Amino acid sequence: MPKDKLMKKLEEKIRNCRRCPLGQLRINAVPGSGSYDAEIMFVGEAPGYWEDQKGLPFVGRAGKVLDELLEGIGLSREDVYITNIVKCRPPGNRDPTEEEIKACSPYLDRQIDIIRPRVIVPLGRHSMGYILRKFGFEPEPISKIHGKVFETGTLFGRILIMPVYHPAVALYRPALKEELQKDFQRLKNLLKM
Ligand code: URA
Repeated sequence: MPKDKLMKKLEEKIRNCRRCPLGQLRINAVPGSGSYDAEIMFVGEAPGYWEDQKGLPFVGRAGKVLDELLEGIGLSREDVYITNIVKCRPPGNRDPTEEEIKACSPYLDRQIDIIRPRVIVPLGRHSMGYILRKFGFEPEPISKIHGKVFETGTLFGRILIMPVYHPAVALYRPALKEELQKDFQRLKNLLKM
């Protein structure tokens, strides 16, 4: 089946999902957005207030930072795929629980299998933890490994993983915004390889 059909079917499934209690609380599930042929996939943590309202990822303040970072390396949202580990908003924007991640992460696994990105960029430590473990790496503090590249083989070829700070940190810590900008430059170079 073509990629777009598979993804549309999966997104529909996510929009109707009741695998965990977050499904009862949401206004909208947030499957993800962008190109199904993207070379880069960004993975955040979970939708917040505005994402829940709109059904789209990273449309609040952190999303503006992400847009800026993408623009800084000549990319737009249409060039990449953006999603989260957990597809429905945890109440009060709390961290998702282990159970919620366990219930929801098969959707992310499937999105990776369908899109087959060349580079996965986990946004923030929760996403970094999930993605690194999934591919057999031991997570370390994000302050230590942001911007580092992990290489792994999959059934569909090589994947590079480069964790970065969550864009929301740039809102209250300017020094980390600089780190994010530097890491995005590394990402730009990675795409040329
Ligand atoms: N933070 C996230 O991790 N994901 C979103 O979609 C928005 C904010």
